[in-house]
Amino acid sequence: MVPEASVLVAVLFVCLGNICRSPTAEGIFRAQVQAAGLSNRILVDSAGSHAYHEGESPDIRACAAALERGFDLSGQVGRQIKTSDFEYFDYILAMDRENLHFLQKMQPADSHSRVALFLDYAEGREGQSVPDPYFGHSDGFALVIELVESAGKGLLKQIGRNLPKIKT
Ligand code: 4NP
Repeated sequence: MVPEASVLVAVLFVCLGNICRSPTAEGIFRAQVQAAGLSNRILVDSAGSHAYHEGESPDIRACAAALERGFDLSGQVGRQIKTSDFEYFDYILAMDRENLHFLQKMQPADSHSRVALFLDYAEGREGQSVPDPYFGHSDGFALVIELVESAGKGLLKQIGRNLPKIKT
């Protein structure tokens, strides 16, 4: 992750292993940001709450499902969230309630990161979790993509509303 000098908002997606849901969110939200012409303003990254898959590429099923919809997850490398992420990222968004609770416990008292569920930004899905597809069937990955696309749209709308206020 090499932040550009012009980046105004940094977004981190967090799931358990950082090989299925959060890399999908990273890839799709980055594409949405690019389509909106905001690539140099919004930095996107992902991490796992645990280090099980540190250094690994995203799950091949996640890559295949994303590619089918035109999203490229290749080039991403799994990593675990670290305390300094709570200094850097404006938004730290959990893919499910368990990871939300993990992040809330981990967040230092002086951190200003907005820690929330990613689906709070998906219309009609507020408070819901993105189901973990790791042990399930391949259609679980298609559902992840559908939910992430919806939440990404809502998140981009919200960040876009605030961008002029943040700009100096
Ligand atoms: P993710 O999925 O949290 O969406 O990346 C999982 C990946 C790995 C494991 C569980 C969930 N695991 O138990 O190794």
